Amino acid sequence: MAYRWTNDLTTKDITPEHLYLNRRQIMTGLAAGAVAGGLASPAIAQDELTPNDYDDITNYCNFYEFGTGKGDPAKHAHQLTTSPWSIEIDGLVDRPGTYSLEQILSEMTIEKRIYRFRCVEAWSMVVPWNGFELADLLDMVGVQTGAKYVGFETALRPDEMPGLRYPVLEWPYVEGLRIDEARHPLTMMATGIYDKPLLGQNGAPLRLVVPWKYGFKSIKSIVRITLTDREPKASWNQANAREYGFYSNVNPQVDHPRWSQSTERRIGGGLFQRRQPTLMFNGYDEVAGLYEGMDLSESF
Ligand code: MTE
Repeated sequence: MAYRWTNDLTTKDITPEHLYLNRRQIMTGLAAGAVAGGLASPAIAQDELTPNDYDDITNYCNFYEFGTGKGDPAKHAHQLTTSPWSIEIDGLVDRPGTYSLEQILSEMTIEKRIYRFRCVEAWSMVVPWNGFELADLLDMVGVQTGAKYVGFETALRPDEMPGLRYPVLEWPYVEGLRIDEARHPLTMMATGIYDKPLLGQNGAPLRLVVPWKYGFKSIKSIVRITLTDREPKASWNQANAREYGFYSNVNPQVDHPRWSQSTERRIGGGLFQRRQPTLMFNGYDEVAGLYEGMDLSESF
């Protein structure tokens, strides 16, 4: 497994953990890194990429397989056996099969990237992820020309996931991306946060991260990846297609039917923090080309 630091978004290095309570030092570090590395996303202000505290990222979670409360995943996800772990990769690929996580990691380049993360419930965080590009994994298995979409599936373990008892969603949790979205260099398979292996509540041992889409696209604890020629099922879209479209791009102009999506509350900012305006594509303007010619109020 190789390590590479290619964070073109912000810093030359992630703020060491012992510094992240000292916000002034973090800001200084980020600004310096941004100047050194150049910003790939000019819409994202440097100070907006100050990572959230590890405690917030690991305690304020959504993972309905462990319960619907924000604190439930942190309480219950330690029950998930994450080693050994394997992923079935099937459908329109040259080398389908069951791949162990070690096997995959031995061929991937692990990177550190700080991404804004925006949830459909209008809260946001900034997370320093470790992981690899999904495109590298797709290249490893060889995507066939007929493949137009990638489907993902989460583990289904009633003995380890107490939330599966409740029919809040159809289980297992599933998600999907169009192949060009899946291949975009911002799309990442995360294995860690703050240089520590992912905890169960954040989707250990392997989860998707798509930073320009609402959080629910970033499916956790993945056991299957399927290349297909038709749009795969996506859990929230299936549950309520009027409220959750397949694309789910962060878009301040398209409101959720029950609330505005134009502003967000940054987690960890304290009670009196002002809401901030939400940016189109969560600030990742470089993905706009993927949707040229599409009406994003129709395909939301
Ligand atoms: N993946 C699975 N399998 N089950 C879930 O309930 N919740 C989604 C997404 N991935 C979810 C999931 C939602 S709604 C969000 S906002 C993000 O995970 C939250 O990721 P985090 O808890 O690591 O911040």
